[in-house]
Amino acid sequence: MSQPIPSLPASAVMTIERHILMEQSRFPDSSGSLTNLLYDLALAAKLIASRTQRGALTDILGSAGHDNVQGEEVQKLDVYAQRIIYQLTDHTGRLCCMASEEEKEIIPIPDPYPTGDYVLVFDPLDGSSNIDYNVAVGTIFAIFRRRTPSGPGTTADVLRSGREIVAGGYLVYGSSTMLVYTTGHGVNGFTLEPSIGEFLLTHPNIRIPDKPKYYSVNQGNEKYWTEGVRRYTRWLQGEEGNTRALGLRYIGSMVADVHRTLLGGGVFYYPADAKDPQKPQGKLRLLYEAVPMAYLIEQAGGYGSTGRGPVLDVTPTSLHQRTPVFVGSRDLVEQAEAFIARHDG
Ligand code: AHG
Ligand code: MN
Ligand code: MN
Repeated sequence: MSQPIPSLPASAVMTIERHILMEQSRFPDSSGSLTNLLYDLALAAKLIASRTQRGALTDILGSAGHDNVQGEEVQKLDVYAQRIIYQLTDHTGRLCCMASEEEKEIIPIPDPYPTGDYVLVFDPLDGSSNIDYNVAVGTIFAIFRRRTPSGPGTTADVLRSGREIVAGGYLVYGSSTMLVYTTGHGVNGFTLEPSIGEFLLTHPNIRIPDKPKYYSVNQGNEKYWTEGVRRYTRWLQGEEGNTRALGLRYIGSMVADVHRTLLGGGVFYYPADAKDPQKPQGKLRLLYEAVPMAYLIEQAGGYGSTGRGPVLDVTPTSLHQRTPVFVGSRDLVEQAEAFIARHDG
């Protein structure tokens, strides 16, 4: 059961809009642009949720019939989510440009519309391989303040390290639809009340539990891992001198696996693997998957690592750059770094 925000009575109904306004009040000189951008994303989330929740009842399942820049088969829901987020944010004058998993290049703000102070990077639909099986999927986003002074955004505005992020979060379209976000002052979770179309605060000030519950990795890739990652996984299972064996949970949607790790404690990882020589750094993308999740987990008291150091320290050199990622309880993620340093040189 959520605890009331200290300054508000337990009976207060805290919508995400009221919460975002409260967050804005921390920045007296703010223009309200970031606030409105977060509103836009909450609205996009409601529209995407309305489709995911109806699944096969709408023509939203299955393949869209083409591959994307990642070389992955695009699903109809990928296209829909991408289009909704773009349509809600391309004309508002809050962004100088965007970057999406589904678009090869930076997405410019169309001519007639003004450019703004922020950059939005996003994975419109995460966990696409699960869409047709009614398994939780999500949306992941990160927001940066532009670096160039004005006009159309450039790669200099987009290729930013996680240390420069101003807001990050995700939607998880599961048994309920939740929006979890941070602007650098802790992590708060909101659950969509479909009967009124409002995201209501249900998980104030989320902190990752000290006692971990599960480890989460695609064990099917084990033969492609390094020695350090294999030994680390044995350690999580209670070998290699560890007395606290963890159970395994793996959904295959990063958003759902990270959400469970955030609320239940533990570690989610997608290590570098030798399965695909094109993807020696593993499958997950730095800019719009690893960075937002690492930022959010750290805001909740956890840690996000590439296995060699903080995810947030890495400055991308390309939009769709991949990275190994370990996120969760700090001590478990630091153990991954120790095993990799000891066994992988
Ligand atoms: P996306 O659907 O945006 O391409 O992301 C899928 C990712 C991520 O959600 C998940 O952690 C990972 O793919 C699962 O990959 P495997 O199926 O190789 O385990
Ligand atoms: Mn994804
Ligand atoms: Mn995706």
